[in-house]
Amino acid sequence: MYIDTHCHLSKEYYDDIDQIIEEDKNALVDKIIISGCEKNNIYEVIDFIHKYDIAYATIGYHPDQIDLIKPGDLEILENLIKTNKKIVGIGEIGLDYHYCNDNNTKIKQKMLFEQQLTLAEKLSLPVVIHSRDATKDTIEILKKYHLSGIIHCFSGSLETANVYINMGYKLGIGGVLTFKNSKLYEVVEKIPLTSIVLETDSPYLTPEPYRGKQNSSKYIPLIAKKISDIKNISLDQVSEITIKSCYDLFDLNK
Ligand code: NI
Repeated sequence: MYIDTHCHLSKEYYDDIDQIIEEDKNALVDKIIISGCEKNNIYEVIDFIHKYDIAYATIGYHPDQIDLIKPGDLEILENLIKTNKKIVGIGEIGLDYHYCNDNNTKIKQKMLFEQQLTLAEKLSLPVVIHSRDATKDTIEILKKYHLSGIIHCFSGSLETANVYINMGYKLGIGGVLTFKNSKLYEVVEKIPLTSIVLETDSPYLTPEPYRGKQNSSKYIPLIAKKISDIKNISLDQVSEITIKSCYDLFDLNK
């Protein structure tokens, strides 16, 4: 069995959601955590967690939503979390400086990030962190809070990995690990399996040998296999330990 800790399930990407869920189950992916991180898709994600037993969600406002956020939106987030038991965390939230070179936007992103971290502390929920070209600021901000969670789509150095791990975070590892010459290879080899959780980030970042095609949670076993090869351990061990980490982080018994 496997858990996909991060996917973007939406009718925007997939014609037949029922079929996608069936395929996930057939691939032994028995839980998926959908990231509802855009203002206009959060309600669709909530529909899915009610409709499909295997589906859970984290919700939050992604840094690229910064110009859409209005006063009152954080209260909406809080109310949705309190009234939907299968929302098990806040995310993906964080900082994305990739297309951002003005300081004002960075300041606004940091403020939104901190407001949501404060909410996570208040509700005692784990967080799913999106950090792109913003490692230094992300670490600095996370140090101010006492939270657990996942560094989604981790792509940094071994040194950065260890900083996050020492702060109590798990690293979300996905399809990038299967790409030729992936820098993640060394990181995965050297960090403990207990600090790794599996994710697809589907429909993006499809693992080899399907790179270039549409991704979905059914490909999680390919990522698990790659980890078992790199760490020279059994696939069962990868399954067992990563699932335990997910249950340690998220309340998935609902
Ligand atoms: Ni994502």
